[in-house]
Amino acid sequence: MTQVNGAQVQRLQALYQMAVELSALRSLESVLDTALRHCLELTGSQFGFIGLTAVNGKALDVVAIQGFNPSSSFYHHNHLIPLRPNIFARSVLENRAVRSVDAVTEPNRVGQPPGHPPVGTFLGVPLRLQDEPIGMIGLANRPEPYEDDHEQLLLTYAAQVAIVIRNAQLYEQLQANNEALEQKVRRRTRQLEKAKETLAMKATQLQTLLSETVDVQERERQRIAQDMHDGTNQLLIGALLELKSAHKRLGNGDLALAENSLETVQNILHRVEAEIKNIIHDLRPPTLDALGLAPAVRRYAERFEQYTGIPCVVTVQGEPLRLPSRMEISIYRLMQEALQNASVHAQTGRTEVALVFEPDCLRLAVLDNGRGFDLTAVQRHNSGHLGLLGMQERAESLGGSLLIDTAPGQGTRVTLTVPTLENTEVKM
Ligand SMILES: Nc1ncnc2c1ncn2[C@@H]1O[C@H](COP(=O)(O)OP(=O)(O)O)[C@@H](O)[C@H]1O
Ligand SMILES: [Mg+2]
Repeated sequence: MTQVNGAQVQRLQALYQMAVELSALRSLESVLDTALRHCLELTGSQFGFIGLTAVNGKALDVVAIQGFNPSSSFYHHNHLIPLRPNIFARSVLENRAVRSVDAVTEPNRVGQPPGHPPVGTFLGVPLRLQDEPIGMIGLANRPEPYEDDHEQLLLTYAAQVAIVIRNAQLYEQLQANNEALEQKVRRRTRQLEKAKETLAMKATQLQTLLSETVDVQERERQRIAQDMHDGTNQLLIGALLELKSAHKRLGNGDLALAENSLETVQNILHRVEAEIKNIIHDLRPPTLDALGLAPAVRRYAERFEQYTGIPCVVTVQGEPLRLPSRMEISIYRLMQEALQNASVHAQTGRTEVALVFEPDCLRLAVLDNGRGFDLTAVQRHNSGHLGLLGMQERAESLGGSLLIDTAPGQGTRVTLTVPTLENTEVKM
């Protein structure tokens, strides 16, 4: 059994204290600084560095320096040292301790970069993990040459340092991974919150749209009832009275006057017929079912011109197709809504409806050269205005898309594109 003398006990105790101090550290930077300070203390060196292998083991990255305070540009240019078999790198390449009494006179010495302090005595030891070098500790300029004891002490301590460095690296890696993960989670949470808000907004809008639709239907019924009461019904009452008087006049043998009355009745019935046609047209345009979209749109444009005084040009391109009636009426209603908006809001002098039958889709464009509007602002604050939203919903329910191209002062173009391949019924 080897005898342990007092000085060795002291050294062992110092080494133990240092190991304890070192293993309490977390960040790589503090591990490197503390380890290097300990090494200088253990060996009475003036200068030292820790290098870790880098660039696939082809270079040494000097990650800590003490006893010399390099400028940041010096450090930047010189911290990567190629691993060549010179006195400084041999401890890594040969995986052993290397000593020199005077580095300047070493056969394989390398010149030092300008600004580097001169190196005299030198001791280098590898930092090993499972016997493989991951870097080295280099110490220099101990006033006396380095002895076996220093080498042993440093090798023992370096084994501890290597483990603590690897732990700190893993810890930092873990921190970075955690941070990246947290960022991802935060980003995803924000996206989800936004999606939730959008969905909630959409649900509210749809709810409003639904109740508005019910209201509109109710109002529409009221209007039709009113129209029939004020128009058709009054006319029919007039016709009945006129018939009564014709009857009376016939009874009196007043043939000429009776004929007058009958003529009046005939005229009234013509007007009733016209009124009823109008009402039927509003309920469901008969041209649409009988002849399809293009003629129905033309017919509506004529009526639109009559009622609003705004010219409406209709163009049809491609070969008109018949679509399921549910789709045709939906497209027709969308066109009505867009033209209605043009007449109410655009202050326009001209409108146009273009129907383009492509081989696989139908495009409907409704445009005006009026005052245009700020679409984003309208969409953001569109409570109560549900025409645009309704058009959007119609487009989606048709499996198509709606594009509203507008800006203040630039007119408005509403374009609906609906895929037709699977929906084509009969070729006209
Ligand atoms: N062709 C257009 N020209 C100018 N402004 C328009 C046009 N179409 C829509 N707008 C603007 O967009 C708003 C929303 O339209 P819409 O949803 O149809 O609701 P509403 O017609 O009931 O106001 C309108 O109030 C108007 O300011
Ligand atoms: Mg509208």
